[in-house]
Amino acid sequence: MARILKIDDDSIELALETLVGGQCVAIPTETVYGLAGDATNGFAVAQIFEIKGRPRFNPLICHVSDIGMGLRHGKMNALAIKLAEKFWPGPLTIVVPAIADSGISQLATAGIATIGLRCPDSPARMLIQRFGGPLAAPSANRSGRVSPTNAQHVAEEFDGLDLLVLDGGPCRIGIESTIVKIEADRLVILRPGSVSFGELETACGVHVEFHASTAIEAPGMMASHYAPDSHVLTNVTDCPHRAALLAFGGASGRDRTKAIAIQNLSPSGDLREAAANLYAMLKLLDAKKARMIAVEPVPREGLGLAINDRLERAATPREAV
Ligand code: TXA
Ligand code: MG
Repeated sequence: MARILKIDDDSIELALETLVGGQCVAIPTETVYGLAGDATNGFAVAQIFEIKGRPRFNPLICHVSDIGMGLRHGKMNALAIKLAEKFWPGPLTIVVPAIADSGISQLATAGIATIGLRCPDSPARMLIQRFGGPLAAPSANRSGRVSPTNAQHVAEEFDGLDLLVLDGGPCRIGIESTIVKIEADRLVILRPGSVSFGELETACGVHVEFHASTAIEAPGMMASHYAPDSHVLTNVTDCPHRAALLAFGGASGRDRTKAIAIQNLSPSGDLREAAANLYAMLKLLDAKKARMIAVEPVPREGLGLAINDRLERAATPREAV
């Protein structure tokens, strides 16, 4: 059974002991909950892959407490440092060339030459500071499934596992970090998230590119990902019979009468509220075991780009992986 403990001095101590012992701990971040282990301990990292059922070729993000810790493990150039100064702690993962022999397990980086660094804006940051080294942490869900945005989700996902889950309440943002790759003075978005294209361009004054290829540069870009059990249909304005409906905004121009269950991401059409509700509502609708989950259109701007990205991957049949 997973043990959910509210974050306090005692639970932090217990988490530290667990991490030092080479075991995993589920931690809250401002985006989604993570399944964390000592990034320098191959045994701990192997456990993360095993618990998640994650393909070994898919590298893990290394979570750091500050830029100094990032600099010890990644070759952060001036552009990377500028971004970190602007957005850390916060929901931006920066992919840079890895420093060879910095101690990070080869398994964590899946043997590739780059490393994804992120400094979370949550009590997890203090945990990393006290631990004194980076924590490898993917989202705390089984591979390919919906990410957890509260401690209960994590416990349900890994039912039966003796796992310590630090409870920091519901995640403030609710959608995974934006991932950018630094290529000299170029900036390429590998995964859209709550830090938008516009914010990145304004912050660093360079043109931001989007990695449109389906090649597995960030396997979070795999066609099918973030998927509930039910079939998901996006951009629905006329909800089919016996579907569970994930609505967005007001009812005008929408037929919601045939839905067997409705959750509204944001009745007022607020994208931040919608992102924060996305995964919890997908899980609630999935539990209805309806014929399908029908999703109303969400505007493709700002945070809406990230929401649509996750919805499209949730809607892609798993055979397409
Ligand atoms: O918000 C988040 O980023 C959450 C919280 C827990 O920090 N973490 C998260 O981790 O979403 P995960 O493993 O579910 O997704 C991380 C993505 C994966 O798609 C992985 O392929 C990509 O980051 N990634 C990690 N290291 C990379 C690298 N060196 N180059 C390219 N992509 C990388
Ligand atoms: Mg994930």
